[in-house]
Amino acid sequence: MPEAVRFSRYGGPEVLELAEVPRPRAGRGQIVVAVVAAALNPGETGIREGVFAGIWPAHFPEGQGNDFAGRVAETGEGVEGFAVGDEVLGFAPRAAQAEFVVVGPDVLAPRPAALGWAEAASIAGAGATAWAGVRAVDPRPGETVVVSAAAGGVGVIAAQLAKLRGATVIGTASEGNFAFLHGLGISPVTYGPGLAERLRAAAPQGVDAYLDTFGGGNVDVAIELDVRPGRINTIADEPAIWAALAESAATGEFTIPIDRVYPVAQVRDAYRDPATRHVRGKRVPAFEPLSTVEGETR
Ligand SMILES: NC(=O)c1ccc[n+]([C@@H]2O[C@H](COP(=O)([O-])OP(=O)(O)OC[C@H]3O[C@@H](n4cnc5c(N)ncnc54)[C@H](OP(=O)(O)O)[C@@H]3O)[C@@H](O)[C@H]2O)c1
Repeated sequence: MPEAVRFSRYGGPEVLELAEVPRPRAGRGQIVVAVVAAALNPGETGIREGVFAGIWPAHFPEGQGNDFAGRVAETGEGVEGFAVGDEVLGFAPRAAQAEFVVVGPDVLAPRPAALGWAEAASIAGAGATAWAGVRAVDPRPGETVVVSAAAGGVGVIAAQLAKLRGATVIGTASEGNFAFLHGLGISPVTYGPGLAERLRAAAPQGVDAYLDTFGGGNVDVAIELDVRPGRINTIADEPAIWAALAESAATGEFTIPIDRVYPVAQVRDAYRDPATRHVRGKRVPAFEPLSTVEGETR
């Protein structure tokens, strides 16, 4: 039987085991991939330890790993564009660290022959996250961009993508990674207390955009450096994004039109209505009566 990484209780790496599992078969529209490599990402550590149990509970026995690279082993009826033997990379949440994964063609892309297997296995998670983060802050030639945790899985790709756009990139890191970052053309600065002052010294002309891949106050540092809010992005500090968005909505910079508020007893209707997919803004079940005034609730 093929093997897969599994855990059956929350805990440290000691709860991980290589378990024998049934070989998945490709149903209609599905593809089975024989995995060659599957990356490690910090989010799955939090899931395994139970830190995120409230929002992302594990379902035991749980698998691990998201982004992978491998060879197509079987294609189901109706699959087009992929054939047995094709080398691919893709995304299989909580399942990728296994000899075989079964996925849809929508989460697979070709693996270029010149790209190593381990590198290909890092594209769909860290690579895609870095790409989206960089695109969001939109670095332009001649600008100065800060990337936090620039030696990390996401940060090291993001910093290079920002550089490819012609920006000068400052990356935060511990000193052990300074030579490594210099080698990639990224100017390293130590993270931790006093970061804003060190960044001011490193970029006397100012910082144009700030991509945080670590959390822990980087958004505050960006604001302190007067980076325009639209050019600050974080992939790791959601409450900071929520707070900024809530403030912006509260001051009327943008609106969240409320299409309809439902007493929670009418929750079935609330789900039936959006099924039309023609809402104007949000439909919200509520436990208290909320008056709706021209699409706004108070
Ligand atoms: N990987 C993904 O696909 C993905 C997707 C979405 C979101 N995320 C989230 O994004 C974050 C980063 O993920 P990752 O995969 O890049 O992590 P990672 O590869 O584990 O990177 C960790 C990096 O964090 C740096 N670091 C440690 N303490 C720091 C501090 N106090 N301030 C600034 N940097 C510090 C380290 O720098 P030094 O070694 O130089 O000390 C290290 O390079 C995580 O919160 C993760 O959950 C990841």
